[in-house]
Amino acid sequence: MSRGDAKTFTGKLVRPRWFYRQWMLAGNRALFFDRLVRDFGDFVHYRGLFDFHLVNHPDLVKRVLQETHDAYDKRSVVYDRFRNAFGDGLVVSEGAKWKRQRGLLQQLFGPVTVKRYFGAMVDAASGLADEWSRRTESGTVFDVAHDMNGLALEIAGRAFFRTGFDQSRDRIHAWTHTVNHYSSKPPLPVVRSFWFPSPLNRRLKRTLRELHAFLQELIDERRERGGDEDLLSVLLQARDETTGEAMTDAEIRDEVLGMVIGGHETSSAALTWTWYELHRHPEVEARLHEEVDEVLGDGPLDVEDVGRLEYTRMVVEEALRLHPPFWFENRNVVRETALGGERLPAGSLVAFSRYSLHRHPDFWNDPERFDPERFRPGQEENRRSTYASVPFGGGPRICIGLHFAMLELVVVLALLARRHRLVVDASDRHEMAAALTMHPKYGVRVRAEPRQPRSRR
Ligand code: HEM
Repeated sequence: MSRGDAKTFTGKLVRPRWFYRQWMLAGNRALFFDRLVRDFGDFVHYRGLFDFHLVNHPDLVKRVLQETHDAYDKRSVVYDRFRNAFGDGLVVSEGAKWKRQRGLLQQLFGPVTVKRYFGAMVDAASGLADEWSRRTESGTVFDVAHDMNGLALEIAGRAFFRTGFDQSRDRIHAWTHTVNHYSSKPPLPVVRSFWFPSPLNRRLKRTLRELHAFLQELIDERRERGGDEDLLSVLLQARDETTGEAMTDAEIRDEVLGMVIGGHETSSAALTWTWYELHRHPEVEARLHEEVDEVLGDGPLDVEDVGRLEYTRMVVEEALRLHPPFWFENRNVVRETALGGERLPAGSLVAFSRYSLHRHPDFWNDPERFDPERFRPGQEENRRSTYASVPFGGGPRICIGLHFAMLELVVVLALLARRHRLVVDASDRHEMAAALTMHPKYGVRVRAEPRQPRSRR
């Protein structure tokens, strides 16, 4: 079989000795999982403080997420921790509840519907471009991860509760920080229990009380006065197609919380990595500038022109392959099931790391290299397996915010790259961190240099 052919999984399950390199879990978890697949292959049964089956082959990932998805659910130690933070929203709900919510919400996040939020994306990106222009004059060094986080939260905040966001921006920042911090901690026994009175558990409970009260206030306001054309109003009006039922306030609160927090952390990590890679690859940056000048020039960006930003999209997809923000996935086996020639008993934990999967040498040439050409539509490398790069997951639980996120990433990148290039400063200290999301541990310290967009041809 040539390297270009799609490969099927022919490997065997390997069981390393108990507690193999367990200590690595205390450090960078993505590097620990990567070490396991490098040492033992694409199907590993790890036994130690945690017991899990690690899969690292697109065929096995496809089987778990899509082909036999109903043999799995998210009642795992990892998702239980999310449940404490996000309630019972779509990210963690199961069975009939998940099906109903997914049906209700799906219509709000289709490729056409998300264009409603294009204006919020353009406004936020243009505001930041103005701010960067001020900084170019003073030569200020800043952390682009911080800026991308603020930008993505602003976009999500405005999309979900347009006016409420402006009044409460700082509080929302602080709350989301706590929820993220909590969700990113490893699910250690005892400490992970929500009743355990650790400082972090107490802080999370306080934060959730405040956040729920804030969301409830906005919901009451929308109910009384009708409201903005934001996602919160749309959620209040959404009805189940068969029963005609609306969501309860608590359900709406949980959904908003999961989507605003989950959605903005991932998008901001993706954008931060993209800037980092553009700095390291001037040839890619030059090609991106060429396209942005061609499509936007110095004029406004029209929503219909976004489809023409093909290379910009390829850059984003390659950044998502090499630096998948939501890098770790896991499932609980609900009933005995077959996987990779083995029978996994109910209660097994199956996991995979997108960091390792997306760098699989059988599916990507020179996988560590940043090369957007891999994602040129119709390109051979891109077609080896649809599950070789799954930054948004796959199967029925694929990210519901995929179209929103892709529109956001392409629009933000195009609008910012048109007016500035970022140069990583000598003071930058680079290290990858893998917590809830994969991100540069110390941010990315940069200076912005002005660009003169060529007028549109
Ligand atoms: C670059 C940005 C994003 C990335 C990389 C990302 C990635 C993911 C991944 C990997 C999953 C899990 C799939 C699985 O369990 O198999 C997921 C689920 C989810 N994401 Fe995203 N996401 C992003 C942006 C967003 C945005 C903007 C929103 C909301 C507007 C969102 C809302 C959700 C929800 C609600 C789920 C749960 C879906 C379900 O289980 O039915 N995400 N996302």
